[in-house]
Amino acid sequence: MSKIIKKIGVLTSGGDSPGMNAAIRSVVRTCAYHNVECIGIYRGYQGMIEGDFKEMGPRSVNNIVNKGGTILKSARSMDFKTPDGRKRAHENLVNAGIDALVVIGGDGTFTGAEIFNNEFGYPVMGIPGTIDNDIFGTSHTLGYDTALNTVVEAIDKIRDTASSHNRLFFVEVMGRDAGHIALNAGIGAGAEEILIPEEDLGLERLLESLQKSKASGKSSSIVVVSEGDKIGKNVFELKEYVEENLPEYDVRVSVLGHMQRGGSPSCFDRVLASRLGVKAVESILEGKSNFMVGLYQDKVALTPLEQAIKGSSKIDEELLRVSDIMTT
Ligand code: F6P
Repeated sequence: MSKIIKKIGVLTSGGDSPGMNAAIRSVVRTCAYHNVECIGIYRGYQGMIEGDFKEMGPRSVNNIVNKGGTILKSARSMDFKTPDGRKRAHENLVNAGIDALVVIGGDGTFTGAEIFNNEFGYPVMGIPGTIDNDIFGTSHTLGYDTALNTVVEAIDKIRDTASSHNRLFFVEVMGRDAGHIALNAGIGAGAEEILIPEEDLGLERLLESLQKSKASGKSSSIVVVSEGDKIGKNVFELKEYVEENLPEYDVRVSVLGHMQRGGSPSCFDRVLASRLGVKAVESILEGKSNFMVGLYQDKVALTPLEQAIKGSSKIDEELLRVSDIMTT
């Protein structure tokens, strides 16, 4: 029989994303609702190793549902990658009487949680928080929807200046290994081309497409490039390449960068965070461990952490086709 859970720890780890605070709030309040103590762990796994803990009651998370970033801070801990670091972290949890852990983050965070669970049999539950949306078992990760809106808003502004000057812009967006942000924001902002790691367009086809676009009378062009794209050139090299091969184009580059990770979460992300936090805590109280809570076929559902990490979050083929048709 599994141990009775009296105290749950919560942390945020890896790249922050809008909605993480809403998820912390949900975990803290669900614990209070079920009369379970909640302990906030600062700076992700690094804070776990250093014993940086603080008790959190329902009033400690007032007015954070609308805040970007994470009040618990985040880190990418190298120490947690070592057996010694994980041993120290485990000792701290045991000494503080923490019985289980909710980790909010992306695949690196889940990989750490899974190893920790395997080594110590320690109960863990994951909540997907990353703007990249590259986790299997959930249609949306926390922060993805907000990031899409941020990117679309930024590209709309770039479009104003691009069309005033008849220019072509390469806009680089985040997405280390995945093109979800680029593809969806690209369609939403009416991009002429979208370069993503999942589909290799090739330089020749990019030139053809830009030529076609010019010939069809378009006054401005936006090419959205995912940072993980495999075309073989970064946005600055792409600018040079196009200027050499299509001198009729006046080209500029805009790298949106970390602004995509900030800002107030969208309503969608706040609601998702609230739902996932409730499910994470209640699943732990039901004795479940080593799962991720996610949104699967519009329902909150559990996916084994191992699958969430190893399974790939596929690009929707229909979206690729829609994107092609929209550039006509
Ligand atoms: O994983 C989320 C993410 O925002 C990626 O899109 C990006 O490549 C990476 O984090 C940037 O990480 P850092 O802030 O550590 O440079």
